[in-house]
Amino acid sequence: MTSSFPIDRIRADFPILSRTIHGKPLVYLDNGATSQKPRAVIDAVSRFFSEENSNIHRGVHYLSMQATDAYDRARERIAEAIGVAAAREVVFVRGATEAVNLVAHGLAERFQPGDEILLTVMEHHANLVPWQILAQKRGVILRHAPLTPEGEIDMEAFAALCGPKTRLAAFTHVSNALGTVNPVVKMTRLAKQCGALVLIDGAQAVPHFPLRIAELGCDFYLFSGHKVFGPDGIGVLWGKWDELKSLPPYQSGGDMIERVHLTHSTFREPPERFEAGTPHISGAIGLAAAFDYLEGVGWEAMHAFEQELLAYATERVGNLGGIRIIGQAREKVGVLSFTLATAHPHDIGTILDTEGVAIRAGHHCAQPLMEFLGLPGTARASFAFYNTREEVDRLVQALEKVKRYFD
Ligand SMILES: Cc1ncc(COP(=O)(O)O)c(C=O)c1O
Repeated sequence: MTSSFPIDRIRADFPILSRTIHGKPLVYLDNGATSQKPRAVIDAVSRFFSEENSNIHRGVHYLSMQATDAYDRARERIAEAIGVAAAREVVFVRGATEAVNLVAHGLAERFQPGDEILLTVMEHHANLVPWQILAQKRGVILRHAPLTPEGEIDMEAFAALCGPKTRLAAFTHVSNALGTVNPVVKMTRLAKQCGALVLIDGAQAVPHFPLRIAELGCDFYLFSGHKVFGPDGIGVLWGKWDELKSLPPYQSGGDMIERVHLTHSTFREPPERFEAGTPHISGAIGLAAAFDYLEGVGWEAMHAFEQELLAYATERVGNLGGIRIIGQAREKVGVLSFTLATAHPHDIGTILDTEGVAIRAGHHCAQPLMEFLGLPGTARASFAFYNTREEVDRLVQALEKVKRYFD
């Protein structure tokens, strides 16, 4: 194990990790669903409400100017952390789901019947359903790149599915159900060769490794704050300036307008054009604090620690008889999906819970993927940099109990 990684100090930064569940120390392995929050984020949000709370952009009074300044600085801080050139390209949204909906809504009018959108079978519902609705409205054909038995995108099939009719390719950077890290630069290049726009769902990537989004070559990239150790109800849609600028408003009302007349209005440029009404001010501040915290820990060290933990967990869980690991891609984040021949994933999850071990069980909002794999669902342990080998051992002990129960 990376002996220099200060795991005890890091765990102490996350208050919830010291609580017990059913009388046992919590083992939180549901980070793919949402991550826990460090004290630095909790304090930043609490400080905002205790000392700076006010609405932004409207007030001439001191607190309003201070809150406006904090909100604007949060956008700049996040732009810098995710490697994009300009804060004006960072739109605050509710989360990944809203970001996909915003882009799908904005692009809808550009599609003609017979145009194609290229997706993959491993997408989360958030990056499937908005395109289905668009496709139904506009007569667009959806194509889906299949996977190899290891759970990687079949790149030959992906390339073959890119064609002159492909107007958009939308795919996940990392699979929430399998942990696969997709070759997004290559996928983007292929889609661009066909003249398509490219949207990348980074919800499961941003929490795991450092990113320079502008270098990926895509047009849109999005993620949720709550999965990256920040607050819920806040997320980011990044778009290339010209692409963002070409999108119409998503919602309308206060703050997104330039000038309002009784019968018509003109709209501001991005990002304000897409942030109608009072935004999630404390959320943006909390998310910026999360990136500050993560950079303080060190992305490279976190990533290396998590990779070692994944290797350890894969070996230990894989050695339990009757377990099948689902998703064996060459490059993965800390996600271990598995099935047990004798028990349904929900039963596994329920018994693990009695041992204080929190995992997720089911289709992971990726029903088409489960259909593709011919599975009703999987049990999924998903790791963060604050998890430990001892917690993996607790997972294994709890799985042994499940096996004894059902064998
Ligand atoms: C890959 C992926 N995309 C999108 C989402 C949707 O995120 P949210 O529910 O925060 O909008 C998730 C959530 O699990 C996800 O894993």
